[in-house]
Amino acid sequence: MSPARAVEPHPGPFTAEVEVPGDKSLSHRALIFAALAAGTSEIEGLGPGRDVAATAGAIERLGAKIDGNRVISPGSSQWDEPVSPIDCGNSGTTMRLLAGALAARPHVTTLVGDVSLTSRPMTRLIAPIEALGGRLAASEGGTPPLTIGPADGLTGARVEIPIASAQVRSAFELAAIQSAGDSRLTSPSGYRDHTERWLATFGLGDRISPTEFVVHPGPVPPLRYRVPGDASSAAYLWATAAIRPGASVTTPGVTLNPGRIGFLEVLDLMGAVIEAEVTDALLGDPVGTVTVRGAPLRAADVAGPLTVATLDELPLVAVVASFAEGITTVRDAAELRVKESDRVVATCEMVRALGGGAEEDDDGFRVVGLGWLDGGEVHARSDHRIAMAAAVAAKGATRPVVIHDADAAAISWPGFYDVLERMWSSP
Ligand code: S3P
Repeated sequence: MSPARAVEPHPGPFTAEVEVPGDKSLSHRALIFAALAAGTSEIEGLGPGRDVAATAGAIERLGAKIDGNRVISPGSSQWDEPVSPIDCGNSGTTMRLLAGALAARPHVTTLVGDVSLTSRPMTRLIAPIEALGGRLAASEGGTPPLTIGPADGLTGARVEIPIASAQVRSAFELAAIQSAGDSRLTSPSGYRDHTERWLATFGLGDRISPTEFVVHPGPVPPLRYRVPGDASSAAYLWATAAIRPGASVTTPGVTLNPGRIGFLEVLDLMGAVIEAEVTDALLGDPVGTVTVRGAPLRAADVAGPLTVATLDELPLVAVVASFAEGITTVRDAAELRVKESDRVVATCEMVRALGGGAEEDDDGFRVVGLGWLDGGEVHARSDHRIAMAAAVAAKGATRPVVIHDADAAAISWPGFYDVLERMWSSP
């Protein structure tokens, strides 16, 4: 566990403009698509965190070469057979998307991860990959290690995925583009559809409805891509402004995929002032500038597809809700229990450790908004999103917050604490 870090409160408003680092979800996809393609891809602005580094290391094990901004790959049909398991570190996205990308290979690959990833559910991938004729096995408990293949040719399939998971949908899709016929999938809505937008741009898929997508098999072309800013990283800065009347932060060039910006809708429901403008579309996926201004906040109810589109930001919802007036409820968030930590437990513990009021439910939590948080000690449980949410809370709190395992932030944003401090000194 990394050392503790004390984050001091910082009263008073600020006006800041911050370019956040490259998006984690999109960086994983850019690297995996580049590895699937035969030829040279150029990718600028990859996310700097340890999770993206895990995907880069994994595709190198398969025979791709990374040279600065260039990824040179023989294409998936020529991938090397790894002689030992590939380590996906803490990254569920690396493991699940790679499992799909590897499902058509005629050899066996084993994927392993750290202690947290080794406790996360992988059974959800098995039925969709088996429907295509692929082979996938997890441990007896349904967790990693994950063994993929050998495959003897995949066929198209129709699947219904019971959870709104972009990772499971993407795994299925990355296998389905390597099969012999069209495939079709549905799931509940709200998930980030980056993979589907990219596939549709490449002529490898068609959206039928908000929940249904058809995959056409075919080769992935090499990419020329600049990774947009990470909306999930920007969210920590949006929250820091939202809880502080008179403060304002602008984040240009962030992904505005509808499955990524539920948190902006929640902030809007709570009374923060939001401006979002789409400035571009990269591979069919919107990118734009977001400004969040602080205001007196009220409680909100978060449920259904809005929960899915806010999933990674729900610990932050609890922080913002503590500074609002009234009881905020988060429902339909059972998936939070199987993230990098049990985030229902970790989030409620964090709020209570800081003098706030939070109660767990099976599929979410309730937060009593007192309008303030005190200080205290938070255990990040090796979870980057808990460490960073605690730092946002600290900035608005009445006393310092000591964050144990604060370095977990490096999973997605290694420079986060310095950027947070600089919000008050932006020109
Ligand atoms: C991700 C999808 C989400 C999200 C995760 C990244 C992705 O997980 O929580 O941080 O890049 O596809 P699920 O798809 O499992 O909900």
